[in-house]
Amino acid sequence: MEGIELVMSVILLSIETSCDETSAAVIKDGKEILSNIITSQIPIHQKFGGVVPEIASRKHIELINGVIKEALDEANLTFDDLDGVAVTYGPGLVGALLVGVSAGKAISLAQGIPLIAVNHIEGHICANFLENSTLEFPLICLVVSGGHSDLVAIYDYGKYEILGRTRDDAAGEAFDKVARALGLGYPGGPLIDKLAKEGDCTAYQLPKAYLEVDSLDFSFSGLKSAVLNLLNKANMKNEEINQADLAASFQKAVTDVLVNKTIKAVKRIGTKQIILAGGVAANQGLRNSLQKEAEKNNIEVSYPKVILCTDNAAMIGCAAYYKYIKEDFAPLSLNACPNLKLGEERY
Ligand code: KG4
Ligand code: ZN
Repeated sequence: MEGIELVMSVILLSIETSCDETSAAVIKDGKEILSNIITSQIPIHQKFGGVVPEIASRKHIELINGVIKEALDEANLTFDDLDGVAVTYGPGLVGALLVGVSAGKAISLAQGIPLIAVNHIEGHICANFLENSTLEFPLICLVVSGGHSDLVAIYDYGKYEILGRTRDDAAGEAFDKVARALGLGYPGGPLIDKLAKEGDCTAYQLPKAYLEVDSLDFSFSGLKSAVLNLLNKANMKNEEINQADLAASFQKAVTDVLVNKTIKAVKRIGTKQIILAGGVAANQGLRNSLQKEAEKNNIEVSYPKVILCTDNAAMIGCAAYYKYIKEDFAPLSLNACPNLKLGEERY
């Protein structure tokens, strides 16, 4: 065997149940997606205008075993083929997280394989590494989801520095609240994105919070309130609002600030690559304007395909791989951590 390097592949089952998607995936060597089953609960929560945590937990319990089985079947594997099991343990809804954490622990114990605890935000970031082998550290990642808006410098797998974060609403939260006020439904981001394509983004003057000159933090609650006030005033005066124009103006106000600060972050760290992560990374307006601004500055932008931007277990399997090779395993006493921060470990 001398001179022959034996390269073992690592097969991980990953589970994601932090919010309203029940998902399980099988990932080979942190890159190759053998399966990625995503069962969305969106139709169930839609009639309430947002996620109802208790319903989400109960639905995860109903779905989890079937979703895991489907992920293994699609990958043509059994539990015996697994090298480890990875699970999102925070941040997210505590009851929802507990379903995935319990399933992961049970599989780890029954199979005698390592348990890998993954931060949901780290998962979103790692969605970029599933498809792109041209990325080089350091990178700047703009993480924009329903619960987070962070500008993160990434120095290596698992080595993060938060350069800026939202001081109030997350970008996705602002999209969802404005969409609800416009009567568009839930989740609001994709609906505003679609409507904005038909609108004039200069039609309504809306505030953009750039905050202090050096700050890379965000604030979207003022913008959200401005849209709600505008709608209330129009309603009281019986004036018509052009929904597409308002959607386009709102989206532009959000993306202008996101793009401006992301370019500033890149200049501060001195990197040439930007990656996008989280549900709002699916936004066409954001992708286009970041691409345009980055090109002017000779910076590359990349993002996962839409299905990997929103919640999915494949991204969790990718993040878990880099922990697996460092033998960073979690004990069976692992608990759900609803307020877990990026870069923090609680096990
Ligand atoms: O990452 P994600 O699936 O869940 C969290 O971790 O929060 O993000 C969900 C968020 C929701 O607020 C949704 O409205 C937003 O991502 N979103 C979008 C788009 N697709 C999803 N926001 C803007 N434009 C989109 N195309
Ligand atoms: Zn998410």
